[in-house]
Amino acid sequence: MKVSGTQRRELIEKALAARENSYSPYSHFRVGAALLCSDGSVYTGCNIENRAYGPTNCAERTAFFKAVSEGKREFAAIAITGGENETVWCYPCGVCRQVMAEFCAPDAFEIICARSEEEYKTYTLAELLPEMF
Ligand code: THU
Repeated sequence: MKVSGTQRRELIEKALAARENSYSPYSHFRVGAALLCSDGSVYTGCNIENRAYGPTNCAERTAFFKAVSEGKREFAAIAITGGENETVWCYPCGVCRQVMAEFCAPDAFEIICARSEEEYKTYTLAELLPEMF
């Protein structure tokens, strides 16, 4: 599925809004994500930290797990936005890339790393996770 400019902008807006719910009292690094399913539905997520650190869930995986738990299996794109006070260039961690690899077509799935609605970079999953398992 080809992602339109309007869809891209909407995903970034939703990722920025989801970031507001970030639970990150330990790192103070607030991340929001918005995942576009192939049927047009969108699932959002934020990072959820834990005092034991290990159970922390990234924003991207929150969005994926929400969608998969609702029966979604096909995905077109994800927008990611993160930072402490200001948004910085925030790229998905290795674990989240591997979760994307489980469900997404490497050459088609679009990863949108955004600092704002206007300032963003896009990658395919294959670019961010070459030679994947
Ligand atoms: N984090 C995400 O949610 N997504 C990323 O792409 C990078 C890292 C979270 C995990 C942790 O809560 C905080 O950012 C600092 O690593």
